Amino acid sequence: MTATARAYPNIALIKYWGKADEELMLPVAGSLSMTLDAFPTTTQVRRNNLGRDTMRIGGREATERELSRASRLLDVVREWAAAPEFAAAGASAEKREWYVDIDTRNEAPTGAGMASSASGFAALATAAAREFGLNLSARDLSRLARRGSGSATRSITPGMAVWHAGSDEESFAEEVPAPQVRMVCVITSNTHKKVTSREAMRITAQTSPYYGAWIAATEEMLAEAIEVAAAGDFARLGQLTEMSALRMHAAIEACEPPIRYLAPVSWEIFDLAARLRESGIPVYATADAGPNVVLLTLPEYADEVAAQARQFGTVVVCGPGPGAQVIAADGAATAV
Ligand code: PMV
Repeated sequence: MTATARAYPNIALIKYWGKADEELMLPVAGSLSMTLDAFPTTTQVRRNNLGRDTMRIGGREATERELSRASRLLDVVREWAAAPEFAAAGASAEKREWYVDIDTRNEAPTGAGMASSASGFAALATAAAREFGLNLSARDLSRLARRGSGSATRSITPGMAVWHAGSDEESFAEEVPAPQVRMVCVITSNTHKKVTSREAMRITAQTSPYYGAWIAATEEMLAEAIEVAAAGDFARLGQLTEMSALRMHAAIEACEPPIRYLAPVSWEIFDLAARLRESGIPVYATADAGPNVVLLTLPEYADEVAAQARQFGTVVVCGPGPGAQVIAADGAATAV
């Protein structure tokens, strides 16, 4: 048999930066994101007889490190596929010994920093669950994706998603009501990040004097963001989005040794957002663990914002995208 799934990256409005449990990938605080309608990852999983997993990425053989990260997620799938609590969903003890070939492709430009691990692990979790015959709810699927990469939890969900902090059972993502927005992605760089988010999160928690304040502020910002999103208050949602990004980067920059993800061009794009706001265009900036900047705006301003941002890099205008999908042999996509 073979199973194929597709998932899209997401960009956090209220950022996730800090783990409560590294093994279970539980976040210290919740986060809020939008799943995009561009840059999907499509992943095929097929059972093999090799007694080990293999992986190809965009047609090339995966490195040992890439494969071992994928295999760690598959170990969770094997565990769940043999677990009595998932028996009704198709689990049986012999599946503990199943291994697979993974073939994964990403539509983001290679190394552009938009090929986030979120779409990759969300697609892998969805395809693997399917190949192992596990019929998981969207909630359990997001818990499974979480074990690959924290932000992948949110890519199972369409549109705007909140990822809850809490225990293993409580820490899943679900869709929340939100205004119609666009994300104008400005890809400034083709270089890989120097410090992985996993590593940098650890260093921030251990050495940044601002870490505790960052977590406390995140809880407050998240509660308010969920409220104003439901009320359709775009301006406040935008302010909270920009604040969350700047506060996250402030906490990271205060590490020992310091880590800096934002480049001079990133700051120029934050300045552009401030200038555009002064001229009456509602637009707010955010950035993840890299120099790219994403501009949050209303649909009617997206073209103008994109035109202004083009001087700083490659620009892609994104709307809210679908959640993870299972892809049939004829290419038809079904939501999970
Ligand atoms: O889940 P990871 O390891 O890809 O970490 C994601 C961290 C940020 O992108 C910076 C923030 C977020 O909430 O997505």
